[in-house]
Amino acid sequence: MNPDSDVAATTSGSARADDDRVRIFDTTLRDGEQAPGFSMDRRTKLRIAQALEALGVDVLEAGFPQASPDDFAAVAEIARTLKTTTVCALARCQNGDIDSAARALEQARHARIHVFLSTSPLHREHKLGMSKTQVVDAAVAAVERARGLCHEVEFSAEDALRTEPAFLAEVFSAVVAAGATTLNAPDTVGYTTPAEIVELFSYLRRHVRDAHKVIFSSHCHDDLGMAVANSLAAVSAGARQVECTINGIGERAGNAALEEVVMALKVRAPHFGVDTRIDTRRLYPTSRLLTQLTGQAVPRNKAIVGDNAFAHESGIHQHGMLKHRGTYEIMRPQDVGIAETRLVLGKHSGRAALRQRLETLGHTPDDAALDAIFGRFKTLADKKREVHDEDLEAIALGLDPDA
Ligand code: KIV
Ligand code: ZN
Repeated sequence: MNPDSDVAATTSGSARADDDRVRIFDTTLRDGEQAPGFSMDRRTKLRIAQALEALGVDVLEAGFPQASPDDFAAVAEIARTLKTTTVCALARCQNGDIDSAARALEQARHARIHVFLSTSPLHREHKLGMSKTQVVDAAVAAVERARGLCHEVEFSAEDALRTEPAFLAEVFSAVVAAGATTLNAPDTVGYTTPAEIVELFSYLRRHVRDAHKVIFSSHCHDDLGMAVANSLAAVSAGARQVECTINGIGERAGNAALEEVVMALKVRAPHFGVDTRIDTRRLYPTSRLLTQLTGQAVPRNKAIVGDNAFAHESGIHQHGMLKHRGTYEIMRPQDVGIAETRLVLGKHSGRAALRQRLETLGHTPDDAALDAIFGRFKTLADKKREVHDEDLEAIALGLDPDA
């Protein structure tokens, strides 16, 4: 880590020159890994970190070095290995945590220390037992210490979305003066709505002192299924960093899914007017790598990367797709790294898709032959969820597909 280097600041930190770009801060290896069932060893973390760098994330939160010696070692190894991505380590507002984060990041080419402290009344009273003044003082002391060790410092106000906006602006103003380069307002418990987060980010940008010097960041959890919608709403209100995870893994119901945020910004580019640096063709391979290494699959109907995201079974949809793919697809599967759209043959499919599949397999039945094949296909489809190419070959050749 080189605290004097300005490179990191222009790629992921405080510079506001390219305001039409949203920085993608990936926390798969920290917030994602914290979720039950997703714990990863060092080798796994390194492989995923390399995939995330190839994907083009701006900042990669590699872990919480003070949490365990293994987490420290994983962060240090990732910091040593990555070349272009800013490697970030999490720390509570405690000297030991901050020093540990700085040590773990020592060999990073681009480094960031991420300090966090709860600011909401509920957390102040029941979790921290701290007054407002004590929270401000602790946050300032932590940011000052981190800034003495690292050029980029992010401050997160845990449970920001349930914090009094005026107090949040006070804390943020104080940490900017102390040297924070990114201000993150997490919806820690996934409670907010898109309209509320727009209101909060607009308020913060007006009321935080020297707001123009820093990047505002969103970090949304999915307890009410709104993490992605809330992250996008924050972007529309000026957030220029989104914290998210591959496949949306994370505490409880998870974090905002990186692939969904990125594709929404890309597919609806005229609406949002901002872009990311992500190589979207690596989204699916990265998602698959994570599912393979953790053994945790995504649901079939998961947006962007689920098995059904580019699959069509119903006859009406298949017919439409064969005429013009835009009828039922808003993006090309190749754009997210999936080889092709799948027209799945099942009991809802029609003649058009059957004929197309048979032709791909080298059969060109006339209308009468197609009628006969279609009848046998429907009988089989009623018994099976999906009719595969081998089944169709057998039917087309007049054989028994069950034999
Ligand atoms: O959800 C949260 O508040 C967090 C912080 C540590 C950023 O993960
Ligand atoms: Zn979180």
